[in-house]
Amino acid sequence: MSEMGERAGMTGGAAARVFSGVKPTGHLTLGNYLGAVRRWVAVDQHQADALFCVVDLHALTVDHDPARVRRLSRQAATLLLAAGLDPELCTVFVQSHVDEHTRLAYLMECTASVGEMRRMVQFKEKAAREETAGVRLSLLTYPALMAADILAYGTDEVPVGEDQAQHVELTRDLAMRFNRRYGPVFVVPRATQPPVAARVMDLQDPRSKMGKGTVVRDGGAGVIHLLDEPDVVRRKVMRAVTDAGADVVYDREARPGVANLLDVLAACRGEVDPAGLAAEYGSYGALKRDVAEAVVELLRPVRERHAELAADPGYVDKVLRAGAGRARDRARPRVDAAYEAVGLLPAGV
Ligand code: AMP
Ligand code: TRP
Repeated sequence: MSEMGERAGMTGGAAARVFSGVKPTGHLTLGNYLGAVRRWVAVDQHQADALFCVVDLHALTVDHDPARVRRLSRQAATLLLAAGLDPELCTVFVQSHVDEHTRLAYLMECTASVGEMRRMVQFKEKAAREETAGVRLSLLTYPALMAADILAYGTDEVPVGEDQAQHVELTRDLAMRFNRRYGPVFVVPRATQPPVAARVMDLQDPRSKMGKGTVVRDGGAGVIHLLDEPDVVRRKVMRAVTDAGADVVYDREARPGVANLLDVLAACRGEVDPAGLAAEYGSYGALKRDVAEAVVELLRPVRERHAELAADPGYVDKVLRAGAGRARDRARPRVDAAYEAVGLLPAGV
């Protein structure tokens, strides 16, 4: 049985194939790091054949500046390497360098329904915010492209933050529907999430996710970036909105600001029980000081390594070129098989 057929049937005991991605819509945040990238480095890249992608096509679904997307794409790739992704262990590449993603996205659009796209929370939220030029059609169809990203590689596991769980669930539905209609082409993937800090909240608005886009809208005082200087990190943490009441308790509903700080501290310390940490603190001030120092120390090596790598863009380009080649080789047979399965005449080359 071919590698593809075997994996589509999920037989055999091979290690999980991992795929995940990050959008170059802004500077990477502490949320990206704690929710996703840190585990890609610590765990996922050590699995067989993990792929990590700067999903630049997804950055075009909202109003964008071409030069900025280009700059942020290189920066995101550089940061993934700075955070510790090792091109000897895994494949790091840029989505638009591998045509298989858009080839397969079309078949996913032919598998999904308009209703299921409209139900996506991220679509509803972003569509509500786009005032100027109108909502791009690609914002609606974005989850079909994301499903293609994942399914093209026979992915078993998709390590993401909590906000992406719904998109991965949709990807599973599309894979199963396609397989039922046309035969077993795709592996049905599942999302994996970190035990703590799967949803880091904005420090100024702890009921909203800490997101790259917030910076443009609200100045970004509640968003910590991976490249923020230590003093900037300290200032943002010390000014974080806390809750009424002075005692430190873990309650995500009633005390979201303090719960968020406890989540971040637990994640930085590699612990999984933020509620247990609350007992160590008698005041918000002491908690904030410890959070600030923990985040500064967490990000220090990433920032330092980024500075080294950014001085050698030729190296990053070389990694991305090799990564795209490897990714293309992995994706093409399965995307070809999907084209054939839906009834398209093989090109016969
Ligand atoms: P994005 O910034 O939307 O491209 O997200 C890249 C990865 O980071 C995805 O796996 C997201 O789920 C994750 N992520 C983004 N923001 C957060 C956050 N505030 N907390 C936890 N994970 C996040
Ligand atoms: N939609 C994801 C986000 O906003 C980014 C993404 C695109 C992705 N394609 C993916 C994540 C495939 C995991 C797998 O964060």
